[in-house]
Amino acid sequence: METVLVTGGAGFIGSHLVERLVAEGFVVRVLDDLSSGCMANLAAVRDRIEFQKGDLRDPAVSRKAAAGCTWVFHLAAVVSVPQTIGDPAGSAAVNETGSLHVLEAAREAGVRRLVFASSSAVYGDDPRLPLREDLPPRPRSPYAVQKLAVEHYLAVYDELFGLSTASLRFFNVFGPRQDPSSPYSGVISIFLRRALEDQAPVIYGDGLQTRDFIYVADVVEALLLAARSSAAGVFNVGTGREVEIVSLWRQIAALTGCKRLPHHAAPRPGDIRRSVAAVGEASSRLGFSARVGFEEGLARTLAWYRGSGSGA
Ligand SMILES: NC(=O)c1ccc[n+]([C@@H]2O[C@H](COP(=O)([O-])OP(=O)(O)OC[C@H]3O[C@@H](n4cnc5c(N)ncnc54)[C@H](O)[C@@H]3O)[C@@H](O)[C@H]2O)c1
Repeated sequence: METVLVTGGAGFIGSHLVERLVAEGFVVRVLDDLSSGCMANLAAVRDRIEFQKGDLRDPAVSRKAAAGCTWVFHLAAVVSVPQTIGDPAGSAAVNETGSLHVLEAAREAGVRRLVFASSSAVYGDDPRLPLREDLPPRPRSPYAVQKLAVEHYLAVYDELFGLSTASLRFFNVFGPRQDPSSPYSGVISIFLRRALEDQAPVIYGDGLQTRDFIYVADVVEALLLAARSSAAGVFNVGTGREVEIVSLWRQIAALTGCKRLPHHAAPRPGDIRRSVAAVGEASSRLGFSARVGFEEGLARTLAWYRGSGSGA
């Protein structure tokens, strides 16, 4: 039985990954400081995992967590872009230096494979769509700079120390357990909550901005494929399908029966206009393609928000 480490395993995406790894028979260790994640996310597997509460900023914490592990999935991060804008150095202490602690620990422990949760934010507002991994990055926030820096550190650890790594650039992930409580949360979680409360949603700008929404189970599949592969480098994890925000609301309104019309507010500064992944690289080198259709993913997420089932 192999032991695998999931940093950020009490979070939205991490907890789905942990459930899948437990189901596949791995011994799963979670490292999380519960700053944005929570134990409730791990309720279904709590008695079958090793949980270590700790902060990435302490190198000893990562060292202890990585000891004896064959794979490391590094998902823990300050995930709020506004938080990284408000505190670039504080967030870099987690997202950059903390990631270096995880890399060092993985190297010392002789880990076979490390997979990192990067982000489509590294592309910035590049109009050349679909966004391909070989486009020059245009980070527009400390968050994006930090993700990009760690991608580079992974490549350097691969080259200098032979640590086998891959970075996955997640696009807009959605699904059960995504927290709708902040205005900067995933738009799907916010819209679903508004619809279930029979409230009009706020759309910033004309609503014709687009996103590539990928269901969390597909992201988990990509993480597993990346761990099992030896392919190095950077891979988009998206669907290749572009959805306009106005059309997202129409679908959610139809699913929930909510008749409210959206309120339009001023566009948010720095908001990206269009985003969609080129999916060829992940498909040809990792064998990954998203399988859960958008409507199906929305229905499963809605079922979870309604509290009528596990949703996943
Ligand atoms: N959700 C998305 O759409 C999306 C898109 C692109 C990339 N990502 C990346 O995927 C990863 C998971 O994101 P998520 O949406 O599940 O967010 P999340 O906030 O639910 O998960 C992050 C987890 O990291 C933990 N954490 C934060 N700081 C820590 C620290 N100093 N030490 C230990 N643990 C710490 C949090 O408690 C939380 O459980 C993140 O790296 C995020 O940047 C997410």
